[in-house]
Amino acid sequence: EDHQKRHALLAGKKVLISAGPTKETIDPVRFFTNRSTGKMGFALAEAASSMGAEVTLVTGPVSLSLSDSKVKRIDVVTAREMHDVMHEHFASNDIVIKAAAVADYRPKRVHSEKMKKHDGDWYVEMERTTDILQSLAERKTNQFLVGFAAETENPVDYGVKKLKKKGLDAIVINNVAADGAGFGSDTNVVTYVNRDEKMEEVSLASKPDIADRIMTFILRDMKDGEK
Ligand code: CTP
Ligand code: CA
Repeated sequence: EDHQKRHALLAGKKVLISAGPTKETIDPVRFFTNRSTGKMGFALAEAASSMGAEVTLVTGPVSLSLSDSKVKRIDVVTAREMHDVMHEHFASNDIVIKAAAVADYRPKRVHSEKMKKHDGDWYVEMERTTDILQSLAERKTNQFLVGFAAETENPVDYGVKKLKKKGLDAIVINNVAADGAGFGSDTNVVTYVNRDEKMEEVSLASKPDIADRIMTFILRDMKDGEK
């Protein structure tokens, strides 16, 4: 592949990507999180950078490091922190991709001291977090906004509903129950759907290869939008 040519694909474009899980604290020793490892989001950041984009990666707690030093990495922990950083950078970016697995709920109370066990059951009251993606969609001007959907059943139906409901330009649907797909895996199987509901099935491949395909679909749909 012609490196120069590839690097020109997203030259002059700014890309904002979120990755990884969020971690929601209960007390100084406990938290709620999920199985996301950040691999898909990191692969997207590196793919966009190799296509010449200026990339900002906002990541929850993961054990990954970037091999591309041109990507600007911002570490966050909670859904609230991710929300604030994404909003801070939203207006100045051209493409925004929300690959993060954001907590839908967080403990209503954060205890400043470690909670002591006692006889009987323990109930943790949880409250909804803000849907970051939807809140960005409401502020959208010229950004090409891409969401992810993690599903274990009827992935395409649920995914397309999210695309419509949140008013996105495209959604990457992840069937996390499929073989070789989902959380922690080095490979993935996804369906990319754009706002015209044109669907692209991407069969089993490494996450870097899937990231390349996704960036290529985004580029195509941005060009179509300019016509
Ligand atoms: N998302 C977000 N903020 C949240 C929850 C989700 O930005 N508080 C984003 C994710 O980053 C992802 C998309 O919404 O891009 C879809 O996440 P997903 O969990 O699949 O969908 P939800 O809308 O949260 O619906 P549900 O979990 O009920 O399926
Ligand atoms: Ca969710």
